[in-house]
Amino acid sequence: MVGSKIRFLGFYLLCMGFCPLGVEAADPEVLKPRVPSAQMEEARSWKNPFPSTPENIQIGKSFFHGKAFCKTCHGKDGKGMGDIPGLTGKLPRNFTDKDWHAARMDGELLWVLKNGSPGTAMVSFIPQILTVDEAWHVILYVRSFGK
Ligand code: HEC
Repeated sequence: MVGSKIRFLGFYLLCMGFCPLGVEAADPEVLKPRVPSAQMEEARSWKNPFPSTPENIQIGKSFFHGKAFCKTCHGKDGKGMGDIPGLTGKLPRNFTDKDWHAARMDGELLWVLKNGSPGTAMVSFIPQILTVDEAWHVILYVRSFGK
């Protein structure tokens, strides 16, 4: 984890160096779509059938911290600083990043929960661990970090 913290710090310093006004820009690597372009149209057509009510967010939260163990990598506060020793490669997503929320449609998040993000520690959770309906609830909770 120390390695990734150093990498994160490195990115932060790099960003500060390149942003003329000192505004912290989102990492362009992070904003790149994860869904392959051939599947994007279909993924974007998937809409969350569950409204973002406190009750539904609470259901999603129980999976995030419970059987779907998202918090081990994304952290209990959603900041992407989980505590898996030796996790290498791309860092877990920071769900408090508003630019990232703006860059993704809900269907793209469902696609990642179905397929994982190939080549990273983000594996697929549907259908092994979550049903599609459960995943939509988790997505409501993930979105709540960005508000
Ligand atoms: C073993 C660690 C690990 C676990 C457990 C994990 N993730 Fe991830 N997650 C990652 C990593 C690493 C990335 C970054 C992948 C990338 O940059 O493409 C990621 C990325 C994501 C993304 C962003 C994809 C995008 O479009 O940018 C979402 C959404 C996500 N995870 C949701 C979840 C949810 C919900 C759970 C629980 C069901 C979960 N993750 C569990 C490691 C994990």
